[in-house]
Amino acid sequence: MIEYREQENLFLLHGRSTTYAVKIFRNTYLAHLYWGPKIDSTGILHHFQPMAIPYSVDAGREEPLFSLNSLKREYPDYGTSDIRHPAFTARNSTGDRITDFACKDYRIYGGKPELPGLPSLRSHGDDDAETLEIRMRDERTGLECTLYYTVYDQFDVIIRSSFFQNTAEDPIYLERAYSASVDFDDADFDALYLHGAWAREAWVNRTPLQPGVFSFGSKTGATGHQQNPFIALARNTTSESAGEVWGMNLVYSGNFTVNTEVDQFSRTRATIGINDCNFSWKLEHGQVFYTPEAVLAYSGSGLNGLSQEFHGLYMQRLVPEGFARKERPVLINTWEAAYFDVSHSRVVSIAQEAAKLGIELVVLDDGWFKGRNDDTSSLGDWKTDRDKFPDGLGAVSGEVQDIGLDFGIWIEPEMISENSDLYREHPDWCIKVPGRTPSTGRNQLVLDFSRQEIRDYIIKVISDVLKEAHVKYVKWDMNRQMTDLYASAFSPDRQGEAAHRYILGVYEVMDSLTSSFPEVLFEGCAGGGGRFDPGILAYMPQIWTSDDTDAVERVCIQYGTSMAYPVAAMGSHVSAVPNHQVGRVTPLTTRGRVAMSGVFGYELDPKSLSEDEKQEIGEQIAFYKEHRKTFQFGRFYRLKSPFPDRHSGAWMHISQDRKTVIVSYFQNFAVPMAGFSKLKLKGIDEDAVYTDPEGKLFHGSVLVNAGLPIGYLHGDYQSYTVVLQKKDE
Ligand code: GLA
Repeated sequence: MIEYREQENLFLLHGRSTTYAVKIFRNTYLAHLYWGPKIDSTGILHHFQPMAIPYSVDAGREEPLFSLNSLKREYPDYGTSDIRHPAFTARNSTGDRITDFACKDYRIYGGKPELPGLPSLRSHGDDDAETLEIRMRDERTGLECTLYYTVYDQFDVIIRSSFFQNTAEDPIYLERAYSASVDFDDADFDALYLHGAWAREAWVNRTPLQPGVFSFGSKTGATGHQQNPFIALARNTTSESAGEVWGMNLVYSGNFTVNTEVDQFSRTRATIGINDCNFSWKLEHGQVFYTPEAVLAYSGSGLNGLSQEFHGLYMQRLVPEGFARKERPVLINTWEAAYFDVSHSRVVSIAQEAAKLGIELVVLDDGWFKGRNDDTSSLGDWKTDRDKFPDGLGAVSGEVQDIGLDFGIWIEPEMISENSDLYREHPDWCIKVPGRTPSTGRNQLVLDFSRQEIRDYIIKVISDVLKEAHVKYVKWDMNRQMTDLYASAFSPDRQGEAAHRYILGVYEVMDSLTSSFPEVLFEGCAGGGGRFDPGILAYMPQIWTSDDTDAVERVCIQYGTSMAYPVAAMGSHVSAVPNHQVGRVTPLTTRGRVAMSGVFGYELDPKSLSEDEKQEIGEQIAFYKEHRKTFQFGRFYRLKSPFPDRHSGAWMHISQDRKTVIVSYFQNFAVPMAGFSKLKLKGIDEDAVYTDPEGKLFHGSVLVNAGLPIGYLHGDYQSYTVVLQKKDE
């Protein structure tokens, strides 16, 4: 609900149990007042103290004087009396970058707008959410900026974005346009963020803020393996289960930046948005620019509380509606089973074996299209390789369906190999700077998705494949970082737009294909988790979390990824040992338990399994199917962090009816004399009695306060999973 107090020019944005307060001061300046647990506004204005500051510059010439530097601000501009990190900068025709925005008007309405061309959260009708728009204008340049704020009654989040328009005759160049900026009163925070690399995504880093700027982001053209567009600012004492934490997550899949700045008064400014490195956007008269959305979430109940806000919101208001509650199939993927050596008979034989195990869908990964025998060729030639599939994809898909499984396929639509018919026909379709030889990554170049004819071509050829093969699932991959950035259809003064135009093009293609095939389950991928972000989730309800399928590594990767993203978004497979990425040999039981904690599948050759392994896999799948709803849509709590030493980790899933509790503990590395392990459970009913499969009874209060005993596990890579059922009263 949004409340406006006219006399005080004060806006109170109430979520389920939070309030965010904004004030227009002197009918001009937009100030931030408060973000935290729900409050009544009486007295909040006493916290508002604009003042003149020694050795500072004053805002304007009015009496009494004050400096913008003394204000907590909502969307700070550059070049007047605020010397902190600005949320945007704009170069005008005079050549300066000074803007001095004044609030002009506002609008409050039910529901939530969509952002043209960008992924966005949705509202379920006008009663579900309320939106505030505040329009600001810089008289001197004619640049206008409208800030959007949406709150939902059912969530403790604020969705923010900004919209720029040039009302002047001369062009204006946006050189930075973040999605959100928040000023906090103090700096007693730890920055918690997700850092990694290929095959080692989303490790949790936690570091106290220091005076000055702390910044991370991506310049890879995607959100990247190295950083995720997520930050949590946690009080120094905040734990997984208690304490205050504020989170920000960007609904975007390209270059981003997150910054915190601790200023001279030990206050913190946090900003998130498109990376301004090599970014500028030309606005001709009347032209507009929308920033992506930022999701801001608050929790007073620790990191688990914050994660659950993001999880609930993304499942109910972000992922395609048809998949919000749709159970995801247990799949088998051909990649680690066969790599490029796929064929009609191989896929059919994998499907036959898989069916016996209870698997529901076969994914034909890389290697199925014309001449694709390794990674040096064929990207762009989305036609079946007739040597491997003489009767076409429709035939193999039909046979798989006759066996009783659905059929899925891998594509990498954004890429082109130099050794491809498409490249030979259109050598100018790849991204490259005129006069320079573009660098390759995994031997491939990137298609210039800022060009309409290229997007149209890809939509057409991929649609043909999906129709021909009657696919039920698509793995959409993207396997290189972008370099040599240039948008050949645009003029030199628009080259700062190339990276964002590329992503807008990707979104257009994703939107077109996912809307034309609404029944098809799409899974995002970028060499594993190189583009794991809310932007992708708006089109594809799940993402391949990492190319690393080793159980030990996955405990860390999935633990970290769950900070912002729901369990049902995390593709997670059991693979063969020794593990192909790290060479580790872990027990099948542990591999199964780790993979089941996400969207479950297998990525191995079922023909190579022993009878015992087949038996165990059959049991794993039966167990997963029995508890699939709890795993995919239950409430998820992290119980024990594998960081920083990676020795062990634990988490739990609670079914939606709260009757079933699945606790999983992973002992990555054995520790001598480690003591007696127990896990204090979260979120269960403390007045109820729970029973384990052996009939042992535990009172909820015991599980929460004394914990669940884990017992002794001998050796590395061991695990323990138990299902507790609540007894009827
Ligand atoms: C990427 C993906 C893998 C696999 C290969 C195929 O690396 O992350 O899962 O699909 O591409 O080339």
